[in-house]
Amino acid sequence: MCGIVGYIGSKEAVSVLVGGLEKLEYRGYDSAGVAIPGEDGIEVIKKEGRLTVLKDRLNGQSYSANVGIGHTRWATHGKPSDENAHPHTDCTGKFAVVHNGIIENYLNLKDWLQWQGHTFASQTDTEVLPHLIEHFYDGDLVEAVLKAVSKLEGSYAMVVVSSHEPNKLVAVRQDSPLVIGLGDGEYFLASDIPAFLNYTRHTYVLNDGEVAVLETGQINIMDKNCNPVNKDVFEVNWEAKQAEKSGYDHFMLKEIFEQPKAIRDTIRGRITADNSEVVLEEVKMTPEEIKGLKKIFISACGTAYHAGIVGKYVIEKLARIPVEVDIASEFRYRHPIIEPGTLVIIISQSGETADTLAALREARRQGARVVAVTNVVGSSVSREADDVIYTWAGPEIAVASTKAYTTQLLSMFLLAVRLATVRGEMKPEEAKEIINEMKMLDTKAQAILDNSVEMREYARELARSKCVFFLGRGLDYAVAMEGSLKLKEISYIHAEAYAAGELKHGTLALIEEDVPVVALTTQDDLFDKMVSNIQEVNARGAAVLALATDGRTEVEKVAGRTSYIPKTHPVLAPVLAVIPLQLLAYHTAVERGCDVDKPRNLAKSVTVE
Ligand code: F6R
Repeated sequence: MCGIVGYIGSKEAVSVLVGGLEKLEYRGYDSAGVAIPGEDGIEVIKKEGRLTVLKDRLNGQSYSANVGIGHTRWATHGKPSDENAHPHTDCTGKFAVVHNGIIENYLNLKDWLQWQGHTFASQTDTEVLPHLIEHFYDGDLVEAVLKAVSKLEGSYAMVVVSSHEPNKLVAVRQDSPLVIGLGDGEYFLASDIPAFLNYTRHTYVLNDGEVAVLETGQINIMDKNCNPVNKDVFEVNWEAKQAEKSGYDHFMLKEIFEQPKAIRDTIRGRITADNSEVVLEEVKMTPEEIKGLKKIFISACGTAYHAGIVGKYVIEKLARIPVEVDIASEFRYRHPIIEPGTLVIIISQSGETADTLAALREARRQGARVVAVTNVVGSSVSREADDVIYTWAGPEIAVASTKAYTTQLLSMFLLAVRLATVRGEMKPEEAKEIINEMKMLDTKAQAILDNSVEMREYARELARSKCVFFLGRGLDYAVAMEGSLKLKEISYIHAEAYAAGELKHGTLALIEEDVPVVALTTQDDLFDKMVSNIQEVNARGAAVLALATDGRTEVEKVAGRTSYIPKTHPVLAPVLAVIPLQLLAYHTAVERGCDVDKPRNLAKSVTVE
């Protein structure tokens, strides 16, 4: 959510900044801008619309500055417009700021600044920042930034540049991500690593409350009290090309097709050589602590929440520990009862989602042990949890999450098997059977992808629909939720997921002639019940696509169309069942001419509550 970049070195800053913004556009794309210091003040170029609009505006101009900041915006305060685009400046035009987060007390600060004579040009919360810094500036930019920061409530990652001290960038972070790329005599600042991975893989990850002062060939990091902080260099272990489309039309399609590898990478090293046990060394709970668990909460948002629902079914079924799943934005405000013996699992691809981070902090405040499942090494969630299970999905760029979801499911399975075996709820033969099946998921996922043309054809029909229902029971219901979210967020078709047995309690009234229904039937013990539910919607004229496991051809008698996925252990089926639904959403969105990787109103990594 909002991408910020900064550069100081010997290159032409504007082109480095624009290159960085291209890589961060997934974080917000309603306006973009850059600012560079000049002799008489800051030059700001910013435009409403996609980054291409800004690029067109910059085209043909040459800028000699070697220092600058840039931003791509996802609007929170103030509609998308040139005025509300970042960078923002003060009245003198000598200070410019890019910001990600929300300044919660901005109205009070704005009133106070206006009373001091400052005039404002935008409706954003961010604009108070350059005005505050200007107010406090007395010949020392760092001091002015620190004084301004001391007045702020809310979350921020910000980078400041001033024409008073043109060879300096000052960056501060509180509850929004900020990383520094360490080049050869040059430095990069960004909300996320892909922004500078073409230049360097050596990074510092800034912690909350830290301040970075970047000058050509020199970097100083300190805490809020100006005490120097020694940082470890974090070396990025993935390639810049992993964050590129590599010949695919969209990142989403590429990421769907990367799932077999992501599955392999997430399992690797977490299963003993003889496939008999799960070793999750990163979860450092003793067998006694695991045996003493009385309750688990899982908290997450969106797709990660859907992975949590699968986690609940699987942990309860295999390890027999009661699990509650909460949407993270609800968790901390509903006063959850966390008693001794409670484990909280936090799931977040980015590891920076503000609601999820708040849930994690609430859990810790109440004394729970927290296990985080995240895809981003060094993310806030990974740093604040007691234990971290990394999903090795690699960078996920498309706003719609795909490979992160499947690897979150894998993490849930690994954890469930580990808990179940330690607690004596699972016999060694059962563990071995599930583990063997887990190891075959990559090949089975590949088989589904090899047959992706089937969903592309069905998508041509679905693209004309106004509303689609996804039905399932048990684990299939959890997958139905994810299938429905995928379709609505990228194709803008209204989609709803229902527990198939619940339909007759109201929603069946919406089923009429030719309404598309996607019915999942992968759970053997619920198959007959699902067939009855398909008949109920059939009787009302619905057009049913059934998703079944190989061999369950009986479903063809009741469904107008059937697609098959390879057979696996029923508990693991969600990993395979979701893939056709991802493909369906993708091809439907393409068919409707939607911007698949950057759906309207959305952004990846939502760092505001
Ligand atoms: C949907 C999607 C979102 C995210 C949600 C949580 O495709 O990607 O629903 O799952 O915003 O994000 P993370 O996992 O980064 O906390």
